[in-house]
Amino acid sequence: MGMISANGVVVIVMLSLIGMCVNGEEGEYEGVEGGAPMVKTEQDALYSAIQGFVGAGWNGSDLYPDPCGWTPIQGVSCDIFDGFWYVTDLNIGSIHDNSLTCAPDARFSPHLFQLKYLKSLAFFDCFSSPPNAFHSGNWSAFSGTLESLEFRSNLGLTGPIPTTFGQLERLQSLVLIENGLSGGLPDNIGNLRRLKRLVLSGNRLTGKIGESYGYLSELLIMDLSRNSLYGRLPSTFGGLTSLLKLDLSENQLEGNIPSEISNLKNLTLLDLSNNNFSGGLTKSIQEMSSLQELVLSRNPIGGDLMNFEWKNLQGLEVLDLSSTRLTGGVPESFSQMKRLRFLGLNCNNLSGNLTPKLAELPHLSSLYVYGNNLTGELKFTQGFYVKMGRRFGAWNNSNLCFPIGLMPMRFGPFGVKACQEVTLSEVSLGDSGLKLGSENQNLYLDSHYPTSFSFSKNKFNRICLIWVW
Ligand SMILES: *[C@@H]1O[C@H](CO)[C@@H](O)[C@H](O)[C@H]1NC(C)=O
Ligand SMILES: *[C@@H]1O[C@H](CO)[C@@H](O)[C@H](O)[C@H]1NC(C)=O
Ligand SMILES: *[C@@H]1O[C@H](CO)[C@@H](O)[C@H](O)[C@H]1NC(C)=O
Ligand SMILES: *[C@@H]1O[C@H](CO)[C@@H](O)[C@H](O)[C@H]1NC(C)=O
Ligand SMILES: *[C@@H]1O[C@H](CO)[C@@H](O)[C@H](O)[C@H]1NC(C)=O
Ligand SMILES: *[C@@H]1O[C@H](CO)[C@@H](O)[C@H](O)[C@H]1NC(C)=O
Ligand SMILES: *[C@@H]1O[C@H](CO)[C@@H](O)[C@H](O)[C@H]1NC(C)=O
Repeated sequence: MGMISANGVVVIVMLSLIGMCVNGEEGEYEGVEGGAPMVKTEQDALYSAIQGFVGAGWNGSDLYPDPCGWTPIQGVSCDIFDGFWYVTDLNIGSIHDNSLTCAPDARFSPHLFQLKYLKSLAFFDCFSSPPNAFHSGNWSAFSGTLESLEFRSNLGLTGPIPTTFGQLERLQSLVLIENGLSGGLPDNIGNLRRLKRLVLSGNRLTGKIGESYGYLSELLIMDLSRNSLYGRLPSTFGGLTSLLKLDLSENQLEGNIPSEISNLKNLTLLDLSNNNFSGGLTKSIQEMSSLQELVLSRNPIGGDLMNFEWKNLQGLEVLDLSSTRLTGGVPESFSQMKRLRFLGLNCNNLSGNLTPKLAELPHLSSLYVYGNNLTGELKFTQGFYVKMGRRFGAWNNSNLCFPIGLMPMRFGPFGVKACQEVTLSEVSLGDSGLKLGSENQNLYLDSHYPTSFSFSKNKFNRICLIWVW
């Protein structure tokens, strides 16, 4: 996107050759007359805009006399319109070794808004010390051109999301990740009907998610995780029919998971973990046949796992329902989700036996059922325990045991009593037995989370914490 076109380079080569022949000397590239066809106002606007971010000591015209031609600036791309160079992409911040790094007093120069063909604007680790609110300036000046706007890791960028972002009607990607943004979600973001990617994670955004966000029918990725959003999920979310990934984890959202969510037929990732959702597992989830990762952990959802067509979710690879106040048994039909790699049912109030059919899942590499009320004998084979190692967690089920005699004790699952011992004596499973080492186990092996989803793996605990919802 926005790379210098081959034709443009040819034009420059020809013009400069002509220039050199006519003038018989070098260094005449500045301005239209000399060779490189860049309008002076555009060139000056570029220098001033960059200078605002990197500091007054940066002399653009000295360092880069021909910014779209022979002296390209790292992070700047240009294209030719009506025979002249214009800036189309501007990337500020320490992305590459030789990128433009920002000054401590980085600011938005009004000249930025004069770059009238700008399609993509990105800032990485630029605004570091607050206060550095968005320039109140004229973002609507970009409404006819800007397709991608990104602010990543700018901790000094505080204050609300400007409502003028809602006027950038050509926007396809809006990424505001890990900044210091606060305030509510502007409703008019929901008017940006061309949006394909909306990532606002890791800020201090608060308030409710407006109904308008359900009108983004072209949206492929929505990530509002790690903020302080509250209230219910609007039922309009059923309109997000193109969506592939929905991550709303680590907020304070509450109420039922709306049944309209079943319209999201192409959704592969649904992460609602660490919220306050309740009302049981909605059956509409079983209609989301594209799901690969379903992460609902740490919500007071309640209800049970029975009467749910788990076999419909044939694509499911990650199912995390830990700490969701589930009761009742563990259904055998889990064994029909043949792609399952991770099954987390720990820290609930599940009872009954654990079916050995789970061992038939060919890709299963993590199975956590600890901190429940499971009973009876574990009937897995020695091979299963050897394969799973510490990624089979069944401790803290006080009436669960594994039969010795079938295999040496040392192959038995960690923290589970041998059946005979239950009657012999009360074997203590004190804390000492639960020290599993401090290795950072990769919980969701080969997870398909894109890098922009920073999943908090480190929050995993081997004992059940009490969640205050
Ligand atoms: C930048 O460099 C040019 C050419 O060397 C010089 O004429 C100009 O005064 C400099 N500008 C600043 C602000 O230092
Ligand atoms: C903002 O830019 C738009 C379009 O370029 C223009 O119509 C409008 O007058 C500008 N507003 C301000 C406050 O500069
Ligand atoms: C869902 O995915 C299929 C296959 O990739 C695609 O043809 C279809 O258009 C998608 N549906 C929506 C509503 O985007
Ligand atoms: C667990 O469920 C049983 C019924 O199956 C119930 O008697 C018990 O109170 C529940 N325990 C908790 C901690 O919710
Ligand atoms: C385990 O289940 C039994 C009965 O099913 C219930 O009485 C008991 O309270 C449960 N234990 C816990 C810790 O929930
Ligand atoms: C699990 O067992 C350990 C050690 O006995 C204990 O500290 C912990 O509180 C237990 N319960 C849960 C629900 O994790
Ligand atoms: C969680 O939701 C319930 C209603 O379902 C509400 O009463 C409670 O205050 C909420 N808790 C928090 C921390 O928001």
